[in-house]
Amino acid sequence: MEGRNSEKCAIKYPAIGRPKTQAAKAYPNWQKAYGVRNFYSPRVWLAPRSILPFAHKNKVVANPECNHSKFATIKIKINQIKMHAFIVKHYSKREKLQLSETAEPIVKENEVLVQVYAAGVNLLDSKIRNGEFKLILPYKPPFILGHDVAGVVTKTGSSVSKFKVGDEVYARPADHRIGTFAEYISINENDAAFKPKNLSMHEAASIPLVGLTAWQALIEKANLKKGQKVFIQAGSGGVGTFAIQLAKHLGATVATTTSATNIDLVKSLGADIVIDYKQDDFEPMLKDYDVVLNSQDEKTLEKSLRILKPGGKLISISGPPDVNFANEMGTPWFVKLILKVLSSGVRKKAKRLGVDYSFLFMKADGEQLSQITKLIESGIIKPVMDKVFPFEQTNEALAYVEAGRAKGKVVVAMK
Ligand SMILES: NC(=O)c1ccc[n+]([C@@H]2O[C@H](COP(=O)([O-])OP(=O)(O)OC[C@H]3O[C@@H](n4cnc5c(N)ncnc54)[C@H](OP(=O)(O)O)[C@@H]3O)[C@@H](O)[C@H]2O)c1
Repeated sequence: MEGRNSEKCAIKYPAIGRPKTQAAKAYPNWQKAYGVRNFYSPRVWLAPRSILPFAHKNKVVANPECNHSKFATIKIKINQIKMHAFIVKHYSKREKLQLSETAEPIVKENEVLVQVYAAGVNLLDSKIRNGEFKLILPYKPPFILGHDVAGVVTKTGSSVSKFKVGDEVYARPADHRIGTFAEYISINENDAAFKPKNLSMHEAASIPLVGLTAWQALIEKANLKKGQKVFIQAGSGGVGTFAIQLAKHLGATVATTTSATNIDLVKSLGADIVIDYKQDDFEPMLKDYDVVLNSQDEKTLEKSLRILKPGGKLISISGPPDVNFANEMGTPWFVKLILKVLSSGVRKKAKRLGVDYSFLFMKADGEQLSQITKLIESGIIKPVMDKVFPFEQTNEALAYVEAGRAKGKVVVAMK
């Protein structure tokens, strides 16, 4: 046989698990059509050159320096590096995440592989596990859960320019690319940022999702300015602790709600007006506010609309989602219709009062996260940590967050 290629010239096929793709399935046909003669092992195929373009299209990578003459060896490199991860096996409120052994993620050309040192825990994780986001974010079980990460880059895709191996990074990976409750995760370089130098990995993992939420609500949507008044509900929670500090940095007057045990905490973060929601009703106490960051129930939302001055903005992160959000997410028409109906009540009330209602579902954004890094490194924003759980206790960490009493953030530690 002419020009058999050496191992060096093997064409590497970065498939994971069983060879499922079109190229792999086509093997028996190649064998028939081209008379492929040798078959070393289930993972190494000898195939004629003429199929190379087809193979390349299916992500088979050939070494251009090699002289693939008539025949070329196609090596199916099945990635067998395994890692541990917490997986949603079925959508369920009662079923725990399962600690499983699974394949390490494939790194796309614009992605970095990050060894996870710590992962932040968010209520969004529970909501996704329970199936509450199925219509909008249709993850197909089994999938790895987790939305916040701090760790070290161990591999870079071919087009990555921002990071190199060994860099310490943190991120909220994009929707559909989540999975930080694992030893490794592959993240688009545009969704990551350098970890603030003055934070530990545990502290850094607590920041991305809540930091970006506060940033996108107060800066992007509300355009909060010096001298304005903002009401941030649940000031002692993950979002609240970050949002209070950001709003103070922007020069706003901050009112917040919390229970008696956390009053000192929110005051230490800069809150000007603190209302114990178990004792007092905030509605008669707050008037003519420019912005509300709403994170609680429907009743709180309605009352919050009434404390705004005309032209004021209410940004809700706890619902109801509106049509703009459905458009951004590219949901099917019937989901848009459902969300339109769900938000029609609050939209009408807002219109009557002459205020603006919008729903925010935060997005991954490495650029904004880099700006957050600067605020943290200059001491303007500090992480507020409640508890660090070992990785094996990820289910317990989720349950702790679900109980709704966290003071700041909860993190699971892999290292
Ligand atoms: N749409 C988005 O992009 C987005 C992003 C992030 C979060 N969220 C949502 O926003 C909500 C808050 O998230 P989070 O991470 O900040 O939650 P969290 O950290 O779990 O909040 C816990 C805190 O909330 C306080 N709290 C509970 N009930 C309260 C009430 N009625 N009034 C005032 N404070 C109350 C608790 O204080 P006490 O112990 O003193 O009661 C506790 O400190 C969740 O529903 C979450 O899913 C949405």
